[in-house]
Amino acid sequence: MTQLIAGNWKMNGTLGANEALLGALAAGLGPLTPAQVAVCIPAPYWAQFRALAAQHPGLKAVALGAQDVSAHASGAYTGEMSAAMLKDFGCRYAIVGHSERRQYHGETDAVVAAKAQQALAHGITPIVCLGETLEQREAGQTFEVVKRQLAAVIHLNGHCISEIVVAYEPVWAIGTGKTASSEQAQEVHARLREQLKAASAHAERIKILYGGSMNAGNAAGLLAQPDIDGGLIGGASLKPADFLAIIGAAR
Ligand code: PGA
Repeated sequence: MTQLIAGNWKMNGTLGANEALLGALAAGLGPLTPAQVAVCIPAPYWAQFRALAAQHPGLKAVALGAQDVSAHASGAYTGEMSAAMLKDFGCRYAIVGHSERRQYHGETDAVVAAKAQQALAHGITPIVCLGETLEQREAGQTFEVVKRQLAAVIHLNGHCISEIVVAYEPVWAIGTGKTASSEQAQEVHARLREQLKAASAHAERIKILYGGSMNAGNAAGLLAQPDIDGGLIGGASLKPADFLAIIGAAR
């Protein structure tokens, strides 16, 4: 399947820096890039992305993504953004359940599942993040943790589970420079694929991305694994040469 390389800018960017970054991406993305490309950028800049995408033919093939979405449809939820608002701005993807949201904003498995449901109801593909902490890995709980996290999403969204994207992001590898080895990542991805197969006849087409310190040097090895269908890229997505190199390593 076509691999997906999604940048997660997190809380970074300015109007000027974004213009330079997106301009460099537009210039560097060849029309023959086989991979699908997305950038999940802070909401205040969605309009800027749309304006730049209308100017630069090189950005036509780059999809816009959000970094979060509300678990509610609309109403008195100060500071939240609904899936309908994401849709209004042309977001194709929404990251849900990133470990930073789980850790700093107390998002539970049930909340993450509800966010995925809102996205799906509005035709937005949720990129559902899962992953164990270092403590959990060392305690031998990796498979149990990711299974539980994915099970909550399957439970609420079973009928359209083949529409999601999964991102396995070991918490100990995020922003730390420590990447899971290709074998470690593949092992977890294969387990997640089995779980998805048990829930859906179309599990083969569900993309399972790897995230956590993926960079220009290690991307090719990770992306060559049979059950790794792309990457969710944090730090390296802010550096155009690195992000382009990762995209170039994808099939
Ligand atoms: P990183 O972040 O590539 O900077 O480790 C990945 C992520 O958090 O999505």
